[in-house]
Amino acid sequence: MLKVGLVGWRGMVGSVLMQRMREENDFAHIDPVFFTTSNVGGHGPDVGRGAAPLQDAKSIEALKAMDVVITCQGGDYTTEIHPQLRAAGWTGYWIDAASTLRMEDNAVIVLDPVNLDQIKGAVAKGGKDFIGGNCTNSILLMGVGGLFKAGLVDWVSSMTYQAASGGGAQHMRELLTQMGALHGSVAHLLADPASAILEIDRRVADTMRDDKLPTEHFGAPLAGSLIPWIDKQLDNGQSKEEWKGQAEVNKILGNETKVPVDGLCVRIGAMRCHSLALTIKLNKDLPLAEIEQLIAGSTPWTHFVPNDRATTVKELTPTFVTGKLDIAVGRVRKLNMGPEYVSAFVCGDQLLWGAAEPLRRTLRILLD
Ligand code: HSE
Repeated sequence: MLKVGLVGWRGMVGSVLMQRMREENDFAHIDPVFFTTSNVGGHGPDVGRGAAPLQDAKSIEALKAMDVVITCQGGDYTTEIHPQLRAAGWTGYWIDAASTLRMEDNAVIVLDPVNLDQIKGAVAKGGKDFIGGNCTNSILLMGVGGLFKAGLVDWVSSMTYQAASGGGAQHMRELLTQMGALHGSVAHLLADPASAILEIDRRVADTMRDDKLPTEHFGAPLAGSLIPWIDKQLDNGQSKEEWKGQAEVNKILGNETKVPVDGLCVRIGAMRCHSLALTIKLNKDLPLAEIEQLIAGSTPWTHFVPNDRATTVKELTPTFVTGKLDIAVGRVRKLNMGPEYVSAFVCGDQLLWGAAEPLRRTLRILLD
């Protein structure tokens, strides 16, 4: 059995990974070794064969004994440890949720329902670094990858609605704290059906603008509002999150000719589902039914939602999708711009396909 070292398994993405690995009985197929950066020697989790002491995630010697390392510890850890481990002659598989290594030439961005051939090809050629994609891009391709695979896409405008969880656990807490503060500021007025709505609105706006509203993690109020910037500012006017769209989508697809993918990334007050409003420019005028079929067949997890109001408001929402592996896609129709311009709305749980799921599935591929 392969010795698999798990790092960062207690954080938010790591916890989802652990949950999914338990559900899919992954631990029965590996010899798991749990690492820690803060509690060396502490009790590791019992995943079916007793708890062993936690090992030191900064110990190159301990990591070198692993056949595979899976890390959800974050980019700083990868930056510090991965080069040291490789320099020490380690030739094991490195499976990582962080973005640090994604664009390296010898790294594959893993999303096997879309690029299994690329993953298997890399393994056959001795590839050792397998990195989970940016959540938004993985969700985009899980949703409409069928159109890309059919070679039909000239370009995509991708306008995103990204959940608090993309920032981290503390961001989710801050969003809820902000929501509570807004509600608290008008609770007594809400309880009175005769109170004036404009008075309620004024007080909520005052609370949102009050310096006392906790904004340490988002840097701005999110509850009752939105933040049209995610990640760092680049020199070309894009945010780093926006830059990743074209770079990663094309790398995942292994495209020699780059398909332009661009748009604005926006943080909204959803908990853990990212959504994308897409304008897709096709290179042909295809019948809508054919387009729908290609989209619906993108992956076995693609949940196609017909473009009617009742089904859309029920099934094409973070509320419906959260905690599920389904990637909902709907609002597919031809746009006024012309018969080759198609809209689509995609919604997926960014902690599942957006983060943890491709990692555990890559491990299973390596075990085959
Ligand atoms: N960068 C993403 C976000 C999450 O902030 O929503 C990780 O891919």
